Amino acid sequence: MTKAHLGIWTRIIVAIIGILIFQYSIITSFLCVSFIMMSASLRLIRASHPGTFFHSVIGLFTGLTLGIIIYASSVLVIALILNDSSSGNFAHYFDSNIKRGMTFALFALLLIAFNMILCAINLFVQFHTENDLMENQFENKAIFMTGGTSGLGKVAALHALANGAHLILMARNIEKGEQLQQAFASAYPKSTGKLTLIKGNLSDLQSTVDVCTAVQELNVELDQIILNAGIMNFERKLSQNGIEETLQVNLLAPLLLIEKLHPLLNIAGNSKIIITASALHQGSINFNDIEFNENYSAFKVYRQSKLGTILLSRLLTDRFKDFGIYTQHPGVVKTELGRDAGWFSKFIFSLMGSSPKKGARTLIYLMESNTKDLSAGGYYAKKLFTTTTKQSYDMAMAEGLMEVCKKYLAPYLNENTTEVKQG
Ligand SMILES: NC(=O)c1ccc[n+]([C@@H]2O[C@H](COP(=O)([O-])OP(=O)(O)OC[C@H]3O[C@@H](n4cnc5c(N)ncnc54)[C@H](OP(=O)(O)O)[C@@H]3O)[C@@H](O)[C@H]2O)c1
Repeated sequence: MTKAHLGIWTRIIVAIIGILIFQYSIITSFLCVSFIMMSASLRLIRASHPGTFFHSVIGLFTGLTLGIIIYASSVLVIALILNDSSSGNFAHYFDSNIKRGMTFALFALLLIAFNMILCAINLFVQFHTENDLMENQFENKAIFMTGGTSGLGKVAALHALANGAHLILMARNIEKGEQLQQAFASAYPKSTGKLTLIKGNLSDLQSTVDVCTAVQELNVELDQIILNAGIMNFERKLSQNGIEETLQVNLLAPLLLIEKLHPLLNIAGNSKIIITASALHQGSINFNDIEFNENYSAFKVYRQSKLGTILLSRLLTDRFKDFGIYTQHPGVVKTELGRDAGWFSKFIFSLMGSSPKKGARTLIYLMESNTKDLSAGGYYAKKLFTTTTKQSYDMAMAEGLMEVCKKYLAPYLNENTTEVKQG
């Protein structure tokens, strides 16, 4: 491109910007206000409860409004460019386009205003519904949970207790469980919630089986099974069964819990299994070296375990028709997850991470939702049904993984054996 060309383009761009800003500032403001209101509308939509009638109407109007805004802007921009051409032959075209553009911009503003009113009504209805639900919505509900002693799981555990649940918590550190009991008792003295602590370690498959036996002995029908416990090891560690620990804690032990505890779920009601996965689930299953004996990487191993969680939840959804299975991603949350990471990773984590309270929102949303409003086998993030990587829909991979997991778990799925499987 020559200097002369550059000069022309620069002049055209400056002219367009100049015209937009100074000569037609009213139109520019219209468009700016439209976009600001549009983004406010979108924020409100994200905050609203998906799946409701209002939500669909709002979505429809948002699409329509966006189309009109794009149309109005292009008509206006074309009109302004034509006006800038010196011939003056386009004056008529310009005038009519400005009028048309202005009319559409006004129409867009009206639609957005209407949309925002709908959003406000939706939020108002939701707020009141949630308030109703807050009154002991988990009363007479029994919830089995792992990972409720720290991070986002602790927030969700307290929420369930505060709302009247009988929470049966598997805790590897019973003192932390007792601290949860104290926190609950002092914050919600009037709640009818009840905490039953069962000591158990997911890093030990026999201990996991013992927890299941203890739950069976409680003689309760479960309404929910929440498998939230998880780890990310920055150095390769083995479980007490000699298996790579992330694979065991994040995938094998939760599967063992599902297999042992699902018969306790109350199939007449709104029962569900919720598993905490992660947006970090890219890649594939490393079938050739599933325990990463070679090329260990905390992220690779973690991603594999979370991909496995999503794959198995989809496979199990086909098997269990009487209750829902869902996975969820809490976002990047400031918790104890990276406890053994280096200072730099910890620093980045602390910069990016949200609070455990915010991180628990999707989990609590799934706990509170009716299975009718959720998508079976669905993965949720920011309280919304969300699609995941291509590999996570590969059912052949899911079946292959299930076979591998069942081999690891065989001695524990059979009631009479306690033989330890070496990976
Ligand atoms: N934080 C994030 O940014 C993020 C992002 C995506 C997904 N996640 C997932 O969110 C879930 C919760 O993690 P978090 O971030 O809240 O971390 P966290 O603060 O470390 O909480 C993990 C929970 O799991 C329990 N746990 C760990 N190993 C266990 C074992 N061997 N046996 C029994 N319980 C065990 C912990 O018990 P103790 O209290 O005894 O340690 C704790 O209650 C995990 O599945 C994690 O992978 C987290």
